[in-house]
Amino acid sequence: MENNENKKVIFSGVQPSGVLTIGNYLGAIKNWVSLADEYDCIYCAVDMHAITVRQDPAELRRRTRELLAIYIAAGIDPEKSTLFVQSHVSAHAELAWILNCYTQFGELSRMTQFKDKSVKHADNINAGLFTYPTLMAADILLYQADLVPVGQDQKQHIELTRDIATRFNGIYGDVFTVPEGFIPPSGAKIMSLQDPTKKMSKSDTNVNSFVTLMDKKDDIIRKFKRAVTDSETCVRFAEGKDGINNLMNIYSCFTGKTHAEIEKEFDGRGYGDFKLAVGEAVADGLAPIQERFDKIIADKTYLDDVIKNGAQAASYRAQKTMRKVAKKVGFIAK
Ligand code: TYM
Repeated sequence: MENNENKKVIFSGVQPSGVLTIGNYLGAIKNWVSLADEYDCIYCAVDMHAITVRQDPAELRRRTRELLAIYIAAGIDPEKSTLFVQSHVSAHAELAWILNCYTQFGELSRMTQFKDKSVKHADNINAGLFTYPTLMAADILLYQADLVPVGQDQKQHIELTRDIATRFNGIYGDVFTVPEGFIPPSGAKIMSLQDPTKKMSKSDTNVNSFVTLMDKKDDIIRKFKRAVTDSETCVRFAEGKDGINNLMNIYSCFTGKTHAEIEKEFDGRGYGDFKLAVGEAVADGLAPIQERFDKIIADKTYLDDVIKNGAQAASYRAQKTMRKVAKKVGFIAK
């Protein structure tokens, strides 16, 4: 492992609860890759978060491995960054319990993700779904993370994490680094292709509403061709043009072109041309990731090693914080 001392710490994670979409990629993973050299990075497959909604056990195991393979395929180097599975480091559950005792019922009640998921899973509004944000705070605070790169929908959870850390520090002195969220200027909120007023989500029942990281070129192009736009014909970024704005954001993230450059490129051309170009840019951007993914997932020994080493490295670091926290709250030393 590379020497990451003196670098600021990044922590982030994705739930292995479904196929990953280009929303997850553009909002989170793509930025992890671009920050990886500058920071000491820790990236997690948050399987404990995933069981807040019912999962098929065999599927969850398969998806957790696939998620780590995607991290690597997307460009995270396990020699430079720590990649691990959340449930392999018991300190996450331990710190989450402690933080539960420093988080108010009212604060958790205000979390929009809890409210949304309670509606969606009305038959299973379990205590874990409610305390999900304190587990997320534990993830981040255990590693004394400075920066947390996430999409827009996680902003409220990061703010709560900051509040919990500040409160705890206020009582016990400087225990936790108070983290900052890193929300990318573009790509932080990729919208559904079928309803561009709604976030693109891997749990959407309409498969045409999202593009997954594993979709093949034909499917990607078909999904973009069907994307809901508006009755104008002009490719321009403007209020009320949610569908086109979303496609422009996606195109911009995959090509590096600005909105002005995109408007110029498609000046006088219809939506058909534009949608095809977006589909091609996305397919071309994903192709090398898919190729690397196939190789990594086939190499069981390699992936097992990454998982084992990651768990060891993460546990070691997490224990440091746990010892400090346990002492502060009044637990006797082991
Ligand atoms: P999750 O698994 O829902 O999503 C993973 C990441 O993808 C981002 N994202 C999006 N970004 C842009 N557009 C979209 N349509 C879109 N959909 C999802 C999310 O913002 C997220 O960054 N609670 C987290 C996982 C987590 C975590 C953590 C993150 C657990 N512990 C600690 C950071 C630090 C979640 O549910 O992400």
